[in-house]
Amino acid sequence: MPNAKTEPPFAWVRAAPFYQAGLAGYSDAAMRLIARRHGCPYCVTEAMLDQFLLAGGKGLKAAELDDQDHPIAGQLMGSHPADIAAGAKVLVGLGYDVIDINLACPVKKIKKKARGGHLLSIPDEAIAILDAVRQAVGDDRPLSVKLRRAYDDSPEALNHFHRIFEALIGLGYAAVTVHSRTVEQKYLGPGRRAFLRELVDRYKPDAPGLVIGGSGDVWQAKDIFDMLDATGVDMVSVARGCIGNPWVFTQARAALAGDRDAANRPPTIRQQRDVLLQHFDYSVALHGEHLAGRMMRKFGIRFARHHPEHNAIKQRFIAVNNLNDWRAVLDDFYADDGPGVAIAQSLPEEAGAACGAAP
Ligand SMILES: Cc1cc2nc3c(=O)[nH]c(=O)nc-3n(C[C@H](O)[C@H](O)[C@H](O)COP(=O)(O)O)c2cc1C
Repeated sequence: MPNAKTEPPFAWVRAAPFYQAGLAGYSDAAMRLIARRHGCPYCVTEAMLDQFLLAGGKGLKAAELDDQDHPIAGQLMGSHPADIAAGAKVLVGLGYDVIDINLACPVKKIKKKARGGHLLSIPDEAIAILDAVRQAVGDDRPLSVKLRRAYDDSPEALNHFHRIFEALIGLGYAAVTVHSRTVEQKYLGPGRRAFLRELVDRYKPDAPGLVIGGSGDVWQAKDIFDMLDATGVDMVSVARGCIGNPWVFTQARAALAGDRDAANRPPTIRQQRDVLLQHFDYSVALHGEHLAGRMMRKFGIRFARHHPEHNAIKQRFIAVNNLNDWRAVLDDFYADDGPGVAIAQSLPEEAGAACGAAP
């Protein structure tokens, strides 16, 4: 595990300026370990509700870390400064390398409590949370924030965004990633990449040490480099584009090493089979076979896109309940090696899972 006190935060960005985003319902330790094996240098957990961590039990257990799963940011979401600060201390105790605050999740308020992206429309409360976490964590760990580019497209929402952004710089946050859609947009329609460029131009001159990340519409390795070029951000978050596609990281690493053709070489059937088996094993170790069976269906559907017989495989993965079912699909479709297929550049728009759902 990197030593948070001696290594500069986000040092990995220099070697590989991309990472695996938090993805509620997907980015568990199994998906993260697979990503790391494919060259992903850094991962963020899905948003964890402070209340679940503080209650102990299942929520706390789900936040425990594997030794191989570093460097990693534990992402927190909550409504009250004192609770979220207490949650941050729990994550420090569990060995997270970075504490990340979610001010981005668009899921509606629960019991009239604003959290996630809804805090962007009440900047005083958002800033109070950032401040409380800073006070609680001190210099023990670098801090980061996940934001949307605003709550909506009103001038008032833009002002709120900038107040929060200036506050996080003032509080000494090490990094920030901005999803270039508004909260109101949820996951629909394109992100506004020009906004990321404006942000870098506006804040980098006075805050050169702040690591700025961009998020939105990254489906393949090429999109990572396009975003870096177009916006000047320091790092790119890979989100929907890496579900069932850890090779996006291999291809990005290869492109960095000068192999620009790597993205045109889809994973072979054998490579797909190896990853499908490994991912299921990790998932069983984490969740037990029953839950892993359910979790892996949605991954299988995404992985199937790389196979020439993807429609037939998809139907089979949908029916998977246990490891035997999973192995049967692999035996029927993945036994012989052969070329994979290049996948579509984007997926149908989706609503996104309920970040902060019970573990
Ligand atoms: C199913 C799903 C779950 C998500 N969960 C989280 C989360 O827990 N934390 C977070 O910071 N972002 C979360 N996001 C947002 C992504 O990290 C990312 O910012 C967003 O999908 C935009 O990137 P993309 O267009 O490249 O997918 C989620 C997105 C989706 C689709």
